[in-house]
Amino acid sequence: MARPKIALIGAGQIGGTLAHLVALKELGDVVLFDIAEGTPEGKALDIAESGPSEGFDAKLKGTQSYADIAGADVCIVTAGVPRKPGMSRDDLLGINLKVMKSVGEGIRDNAPDAFVICITNPLDAMVWALQQFSGLPANKVCGMAGVLDSARFRHFLAEEFNVSMKDVTAFVLGGHGDTMVPSVRYSTVAGIPLPDLVKMGWTSQEKLDAIVQRTRDGGAEIVGLLKTGSAYYAPATSAIEMAEAYLKDQKRVLPCAAHCNGELGVKGMYVGVPTVIGAGGIERIIDVTLTKEEQEMFDNSVNAVKGLVEACKGIDNSLA
Ligand code: APR
Repeated sequence: MARPKIALIGAGQIGGTLAHLVALKELGDVVLFDIAEGTPEGKALDIAESGPSEGFDAKLKGTQSYADIAGADVCIVTAGVPRKPGMSRDDLLGINLKVMKSVGEGIRDNAPDAFVICITNPLDAMVWALQQFSGLPANKVCGMAGVLDSARFRHFLAEEFNVSMKDVTAFVLGGHGDTMVPSVRYSTVAGIPLPDLVKMGWTSQEKLDAIVQRTRDGGAEIVGLLKTGSAYYAPATSAIEMAEAYLKDQKRVLPCAAHCNGELGVKGMYVGVPTVIGAGGIERIIDVTLTKEEQEMFDNSVNAVKGLVEACKGIDNSLA
């Protein structure tokens, strides 16, 4: 059986890391696409040359031609610009919307059967625009944010409790921005919900509140440290987890930006929700029940995403 074909649209910091991970994990052959001449070719060759030492079997190709992504099983989109210190993800909207138009058309014309994972920010609005521009079925187009935000939350919690990250589960709902909703009630250490751990004296409510806030600011914390761009190791790893769930039909329960059709009270837009990812793409959205307070925070986040979607429609009137 032929190896799966994985197209990476954007060969910058995240794109290069994605290519390396795909090769190391032998998930398939890689096509790295970028408008910057030489960048995808250089990264593809560099990673291929690590193959003999690592011992992986994967072909890597860099290109400026969409024809090379033909028949891709998975497309992961990072094309666009990242933020610099002082910028919010929303500041990237105008420029990255134009990029989504060309990428969406490139995927539509060359890889219409792919499972598409968008990483470009502002994520929830960009994945919505990408689905519109590409015309692919909504269950085959999703955005990577929740896995990353949850991973950040899990990392901070594991450090606070001094337990293995493997035993900390967490999920984060809502948009990938300042209004995201790290769900304390649905996050656990080996099944013990965080509020119970506060009662058991494992941490204080104040410390937990600070961890929730640090999770919300997780992207900005890295931007502030790097100064020249945004995070790439953890974002790439998170998207690979989603791609692997699709390619291996794992039916993983992962939070991601999915097209909602009434779930959690959201209709006709993309926002971070718990999903099941398998060979059918986004196979199910888990319609969790929220408390009144959680629902208010979630609605606030949904409204922020709605504002960005309206701004996209204002910029490009081909968007319905
Ligand atoms: N088509 C293809 N590639 C493009 C296009 C386009 N129209 N426009 C820009 N690119 C490429 C750039 O040439 C660059 O190589 O996208 C790449 C982006 O890479 P980086 O600048 O290194 O950004 P990265 O850190 O990878 O982040 C990409 O993901 O998390 C988000 O906010 C982040 O929106 C940003 C995206």
